[in-house]
Amino acid sequence: MPKLKIKSDKIDMEVADDYPLINLAEEHDTSILFGCRDGACGACMIKVIEGKDNLSKIEDDEKDFLESMAGEEDERLACQCKVKGDVVIEPSE
Ligand code: FES
Repeated sequence: MPKLKIKSDKIDMEVADDYPLINLAEEHDTSILFGCRDGACGACMIKVIEGKDNLSKIEDDEKDFLESMAGEEDERLACQCKVKGDVVIEPSE
């Protein structure tokens, strides 16, 4: 099972394969904020500290949104990501 760490929340847990990060909004008390849950608001922007390749592949809509927000290469929208291997993340500033 993949390990998910959220550094700023001191969360370190195992999750199911393909765990959608949007589930954090319902299941855990985390500093990652969720708004639209549809890739349109940017509230859930995260920084991927380790394991960027262990998140689901970035789709064109997410890529376009991040580019419009001047997002950095290690940033993703949590609501659009599924966990496929070990990752360490934190909310973007
Ligand atoms: S919650 Fe709005 S972009 Fe993810």
